[in-house]
Amino acid sequence: MVPQWVRVCSVGDLRMGEMLDFDYKDRKILLANINGKIYATDRICTHAEADLTTGILNEEGVTCPLHLSTFNMETGVPQNLPAEVPLKTYNVKIEQNEIYVEVE
Ligand code: FES
Repeated sequence: MVPQWVRVCSVGDLRMGEMLDFDYKDRKILLANINGKIYATDRICTHAEADLTTGILNEEGVTCPLHLSTFNMETGVPQNLPAEVPLKTYNVKIEQNEIYVEVE
């Protein structure tokens, strides 16, 4: 399928340190604001399918609420066990104060 940019929300809807979820077709996506930069990854943990939006966000990334693996939001790579498989990451852009994610 052809990738396309989809509007998620306004910049003001996702403040620093916050996360929000966004569904597009069968994709369950997590958006996070870390120090003013917006990241998007899949939001279902690759270890045992916990919803990462109920985890903890800090400068290191998002920490899974179930077994505490922390995922880097830029690369999707888990920083510690038990998760070993990276999260899918998505390109993000901001235009006219709106946040867009590139999805297929
Ligand atoms: S479900 Fe996320 S680390 Fe186990």
